[in-house]
Amino acid sequence: MKFFVDTADVGEIRSLMDTGLLDGVTTNPSLIAKSGRDMKQVIAEICDITPGPVSAEVTATDAEGMLAEGRFLRTIAANVCVKVPLTEAGLIACRRLSGEGAMVNVTLCFSAAQALLAAKAGATFISPFVGRLDDIGQDGMELIADIVEIYNNYPALTTEVLVASIRHPVHVVQSAKLGAHVATLPPAVIRQLMKHPLTDKGLDAFLADWKKTGQSIL
Ligand code: E4P
Repeated sequence: MKFFVDTADVGEIRSLMDTGLLDGVTTNPSLIAKSGRDMKQVIAEICDITPGPVSAEVTATDAEGMLAEGRFLRTIAANVCVKVPLTEAGLIACRRLSGEGAMVNVTLCFSAAQALLAAKAGATFISPFVGRLDDIGQDGMELIADIVEIYNNYPALTTEVLVASIRHPVHVVQSAKLGAHVATLPPAVIRQLMKHPLTDKGLDAFLADWKKTGQSIL
């Protein structure tokens, strides 16, 4: 399973790249706003740090506007993945941009039917938002199961399931069990994945016992 980080914080991305765990980055207009920085500058910096896909979202709402913005975003770096919303205009833009050789991430997916349309429109990635579905009392992981099943029925579809709006490590494990291709994680969730209280407790005990031996390895 590939891991993307869901942030526009360049410092965070740099430090997480050092772990060797990151395969790409996703951003959205809210994350860019939170960074307080110029979008083009931030995307260029992120693309320099990671060789993997870096999702940069269009903000036009009509197909022609999305196309123009998507084409511009692609000039920033070769690894820009144009992110478009799952609307009729977004699907038109997806089809055209993917026809031009662009990577396209179709975002704000909340149903299996929408995911099927994105795949038919040639999306590189479909981003179903599991946390936001959980927030309204629906089961986000059920949507992932449905999309994976549908895509598996049609091997000619090459769209990858990119699980988005992840809130905690259980979402990541469930996505992996279902065979989703990618998970995009907030930095805090990536760090949570590394932690277990028994690991900390066990390490403390090993180090305390080691100290008693008075030895050193080097
Ligand atoms: C995905 O690409 C989105 O940027 C993101 O996962 C949205 O997550 P949120 O629901 O926590 O805002």
